[in-house]
Amino acid sequence: MNSGIRFEDVSVEFSGRPVLRDLSLDLDHRRIAVIGANGSGKSTFARMLNGLVTPTRGEVRVHGIDPARQPKRVRRRVGFVFSNPDAQIIMPTVAEDVGFSLRGQGLSRPEIQARVAAALDRFGLTEQADAPAQTLSGGQKQLLALCAVLIREPGLVVADEPTAYLDAANSRRIAGFLLDEMPQQLVIVTHDPRLAVRCDVALRFEAGTLVDHGDPVAVVARYEEEQR
Ligand SMILES: Nc1ncnc2c1ncn2[C@@H]1O[C@H](COP(=O)(O)OP(=O)(O)OP(=O)(O)O)[C@@H](O)[C@H]1O
Ligand SMILES: [Mg+2]
Repeated sequence: MNSGIRFEDVSVEFSGRPVLRDLSLDLDHRRIAVIGANGSGKSTFARMLNGLVTPTRGEVRVHGIDPARQPKRVRRRVGFVFSNPDAQIIMPTVAEDVGFSLRGQGLSRPEIQARVAAALDRFGLTEQADAPAQTLSGGQKQLLALCAVLIREPGLVVADEPTAYLDAANSRRIAGFLLDEMPQQLVIVTHDPRLAVRCDVALRFEAGTLVDHGDPVAVVARYEEEQR
């Protein structure tokens, strides 16, 4: 499968204000960390990967797809996990929410039920299947959000600070799943250097510019050195 993420001279402006400048990149690592200060452009970068943000100039290709021109294709290929799981839970119960992800794929009801049951089992949510989604804990909600993204089998998972709202145990669980268990390509935006160093490559943004990228341990060390 094509796992290339390519940016060619990409810039993004919001109301004429530049927030990302002249970004050129060519990546096909399994785990890609995105780090940098608040407001440096990390989420803007992540959101371009599934067409939530379109570049003002330049070209983006994600697994051969142009997200700006092929929104349907890119949404099938790229799953997006936000930091706030409340923002992505749509349906009343846990099972309905996961099943909702499979709509429009021509699957029969029993097929959907079987796939939902298997997915809930994998994320340890079987007991909560019929519970109102809003009664889950923060960590369980993030697991549910991930489950609803992964059941569609995206080739790339983009996670924007997926552990921001989680306690240490749930952070470990979500990070373990994203970084070690799932086979899909991952772009993870994080303020946690311990997560970044577990990736295969790291990108650091500063004030809208990609200022460093490469081996995550080295990129994180240089960033921490500068913050001293
Ligand atoms: N929809 C928008 N309209 C106008 N400005 C925006 C929009 N989205 C982001 N920005 C601006 O773009 C800049 C980069 O924002 P972005 O959300 O990408 O930063 P970030 O690195 O993800 O920060 P954080 O660590 O705080 O999440 C900020 O100055 C922000 O105010
Ligand atoms: Mg952000």
